Amino acid sequence: MLDKTASFFCNLLYNKIIKLDIKGENMTDILKFGNISSEEAIQLEEQYGAHNYNPLPVVLAKGEGVFLWDPEGNRYYDFLSAYSAVNQGHCHPKIIDALTEQARTLTLTSRAFYNNKLGEYEKFITEFFGYEMVLPMNSGAEGVETAMKLARKWAYKVKGVEENKAIIVFVEGNFHGRTISIVSASSDPTSYGDFGPFTPGIVRIPYNDADALKAYLEKEGKNVAAFIVEPIQGEAGVYIPDDGYLKACYDICQEHEVLFIADEIQTGIGRTGKLLACDHEGVRPDVLILGKAISGGVLPVSAVLADKDIMLQIQPGEHGSTFGGFPLACVVAKAALEVVRDENLAQRSQELGDYLREELEKIDHPMISLVRGRGLLSAIVVEPKDGVEAWDVCVMLSERGLLCKPTHRHIIRLAPPLVITKEQLTECVEIIKSVFNEL
Ligand SMILES: Cc1ncc(COP(=O)(O)O)c(C=O)c1O
Repeated sequence: MLDKTASFFCNLLYNKIIKLDIKGENMTDILKFGNISSEEAIQLEEQYGAHNYNPLPVVLAKGEGVFLWDPEGNRYYDFLSAYSAVNQGHCHPKIIDALTEQARTLTLTSRAFYNNKLGEYEKFITEFFGYEMVLPMNSGAEGVETAMKLARKWAYKVKGVEENKAIIVFVEGNFHGRTISIVSASSDPTSYGDFGPFTPGIVRIPYNDADALKAYLEKEGKNVAAFIVEPIQGEAGVYIPDDGYLKACYDICQEHEVLFIADEIQTGIGRTGKLLACDHEGVRPDVLILGKAISGGVLPVSAVLADKDIMLQIQPGEHGSTFGGFPLACVVAKAALEVVRDENLAQRSQELGDYLREELEKIDHPMISLVRGRGLLSAIVVEPKDGVEAWDVCVMLSERGLLCKPTHRHIIRLAPPLVITKEQLTECVEIIKSVFNEL
């Protein structure tokens, strides 16, 4: 309580004194956070930033737990969690404490030397997820690229695939990031259009169709290094495969000496009600890719986990990144994972996710055709009507203080931080209800 009061007065002082100095007296009447208005922030991004995103017209200036604020002091519930990177809630004090303490001590060394935080983190994360080794990277896409390289190496060195013949199998509707090799696997023209020529050795089969994998591997399995899959397709619109799909695919991969690689960058770290979405089917991937919430949304941190027989195929000098495994990231990621464990976030996600969907299913509106999800990763599928699409619903929700983002024209993804309370969820359901009532 004392902390909250102190921070309130600090904000007040900052807003009244600092901003007054910078911008003159009028700004203080409008702005609560920072020194530029929402309008100015949008103009600056539009003018000077590449137009590679299409954000909702909301500017965010502060975050705490499940809440975000714009510069003018309007408060929003965060129902996107930075695409599931902020599972632990915004600016979690334990993670921020770890960050600031380490930032004063040592941030980056490169891997030209050992550092005194990396090994400790590697031991922690491998034990946490039950693997022998980890390869630390930064963005999610880098994690996926790393897994692809690892799989190819393993195919040549262990499986005995003929040089340059290795194949990696992906599924339709996937989303694994934005690099050339990753978009080479995409079935979404917005991702791959005009970005060719593409990386060879990549094929796609239907999602949620273990028979398709079986048929492909029976024909071409000799040269296949890996099958890469999201256990739930998040970006595509929260598509959950049939029960047993992951296990069946895992078994088929085993049969054909193919690595089963799970991209749990979005679904991992408690988001779907278990630590990993693969845990719902008791599947332990041969290679596990994690990102986003490993750092609680504080730094870009990703990780590829595997056992030694796979991981040690990569030799010194063959792969890496200047920042991968930097001391600051190691400390932050360890703290962020401890929060997931200590606050039982996976279990919370399971219970609250069930509650949220139960409540959403009670909303009787002709535009809502389906509510689906697992844990606190849910989607409302809407039937666009009279020109009103998922985007318009999201804009209306933002005007009532709830932020989420459509995927495609008809799907609204709902993914609040896992620290949200039941009371807060109830309030959010009321907001969602009020928007549909108005449509
Ligand atoms: C399943 C999955 N894989 C990979 C990525 C790419 O991660 P990043 O944006 O950190 O490169 C994402 C991002 O949304 C994702 O959802």
